[in-house]
Amino acid sequence: MITIKDKQFEPFINKGMIAERVEALAERLNDDYRGKRPILIAILNGAFMFAADLVRHLTFEHEIQFAKFSSYEGMETTGRVKQLIGVCSDLMDRDVIIVEDIIDTGTTMYSLIPQFRNMGVRSVEVATLLMKPGKLQVPLNVKYCAMEIPNEFIVGYGLDYDGLGRNYESIYVVKEN
Ligand code: IMP
Ligand code: MG
Repeated sequence: MITIKDKQFEPFINKGMIAERVEALAERLNDDYRGKRPILIAILNGAFMFAADLVRHLTFEHEIQFAKFSSYEGMETTGRVKQLIGVCSDLMDRDVIIVEDIIDTGTTMYSLIPQFRNMGVRSVEVATLLMKPGKLQVPLNVKYCAMEIPNEFIVGYGLDYDGLGRNYESIYVVKEN
């Protein structure tokens, strides 16, 4: 059990399971992108740890960049995608893989994907560590998802509660009392 600010969290997905699922996802990408040279765009801040572990298993040539958007404050999504640290490369005719930590309402990805399409990409797919299918509010095609979870708030392995808890190697779920 861990405490972050006013909340208690209990173990949910251990680091061994995360490693297994990340590697399995990498294998799918290795099959699908062999011979291509996609650009991975990892979404800050949450996806930094997942992206770092994922690329270690990739066997095809690729570039990686980091971009930043934000829609979350505390434990609730604000429904809008704010702020951006942009992508530096020319994305014209590139295969893009958006690397995300978690898809919740889907709002972030739903507004991002058309932005990438407008930059003339050849293809754009989403590779996410986690997804809460029960909370999805928009039509979203997520081709690569390492793990699906119920509608609960989690921290660790890059995911935060008000900026804290990203450092844990395992994932913890909020304890309702
Ligand atoms: P969406 O736009 O509602 O899909 O929210 C996506 C973003 O919200 C993710 O990139 C995360 O940064 C954040 N988020 C969603 N669920 C959680 C959670 O359970 N813990 C921590 N952050 C979360
Ligand atoms: Mg995020």
